[in-house]
Amino acid sequence: MGEIFKKEHFKEKYAVDEVQYTCDIVDALSNLKPAMLLTLRGQNTDSGSTCREASFEGISGFQVNNTLLHPVIVECRLIKTDMELEVLRYTNRVSSEAHKMIMKHVKPGQKEYEMESLFQHYCYTKGGMRHTSYTCICGTGHNSSVLHYGHAGAPNDKLISDGDMCLFDMGGEYYCYSSDITCSFPANGKFTPDQRAVYEAVLKSSRTVMAAIEPGVKWTDMHRMADKVHLEELVKIGILNGSVEDMMKVHLGSVFMPHGLGHLLGIDVHDVGGYPEGVERIDEPGLKSLRMGRLVRERMVLTVEPGIYFINHLLDQALANSSQSCFINNQVLARFRGFGGVRIEDDIAVTADGIELLTCVPRTVEEIEAFMADSAKTFSPVVSSERL
Ligand code: GLY
Ligand code: MN
Ligand code: MN
Repeated sequence: MGEIFKKEHFKEKYAVDEVQYTCDIVDALSNLKPAMLLTLRGQNTDSGSTCREASFEGISGFQVNNTLLHPVIVECRLIKTDMELEVLRYTNRVSSEAHKMIMKHVKPGQKEYEMESLFQHYCYTKGGMRHTSYTCICGTGHNSSVLHYGHAGAPNDKLISDGDMCLFDMGGEYYCYSSDITCSFPANGKFTPDQRAVYEAVLKSSRTVMAAIEPGVKWTDMHRMADKVHLEELVKIGILNGSVEDMMKVHLGSVFMPHGLGHLLGIDVHDVGGYPEGVERIDEPGLKSLRMGRLVRERMVLTVEPGIYFINHLLDQALANSSQSCFINNQVLARFRGFGGVRIEDDIAVTADGIELLTCVPRTVEEIEAFMADSAKTFSPVVSSERL
């Protein structure tokens, strides 16, 4: 395994007060005569996974409490320090550039996994990011409506076709810190009128929500706000008709956006702390999938990721439910079957009076079309000297 570094090496690298080799830990702790050792065990309310607590040979000789620490650490992870924000800005900067590089490269005739591979290559070579924060989602055409496409059973292996929408959800990870960015655009670089209409509906909800976020707002209200904008825009497109207020009462928004608006981001891509004791999930379609139920606070880092998808089984369910189907114009909707979906996902840090947008990629239709058309335009990659 190579040379074992001196304790000073680890102390500096991890910025901790004290370091001991495992073989010395019983003696080192015994000398301190602690009343109690605190170890970290508790459940991530998002994944449901329980973290594995630290242990060492001889720990049974100490009094150990494995429950006190977890809620305290969760609160620490919720509110980012300056240093954590700096790392998250970095993961976003490199991943944004990687997405831009993909937008320049993508062409009908390529495989989706080529985009996954290029993204990973960019993040590693330019940003020193060995891992991505989650399995890359490179859905094109109908696959862009599959929320967690890219998994082992659907491994980004479709051929990209002319006319496809691309929905690329990918984020690089640095020193365990995540990024989580989705770009949606046409594979051929030019939006059709229908693609533009759906894309601009999602962009409107993204920007409306971002303008409203500040410390103190309820995250659940932000989710509802996104739903409302989607429904208003779907009325303008002609897919829906009737009162948006009435549509909200029957949760029609969740037919088109069945996931939550966004989640906490940090060491986990779906970070801890979304539902502390006393904060209950709202058991309604859509909102029940929201990964955070608390009030927004300064220094939280969150994703804002509204989307509109045309998912056949959800559309069929809605059409079979008279309280929802009464709002749907099935003739217009039929045109969108097979369209896939659009998601726009940005990472934000909450400031004292609003947000700092960490993600920086072309977002309007005009920006995307100009960026993708101008393949000669040089690209300003992150250079290694700018690395953290
Ligand atoms: N890529 C997973 C998510 O957006 O939450
Ligand atoms: Mn994502
Ligand atoms: Mn996300």
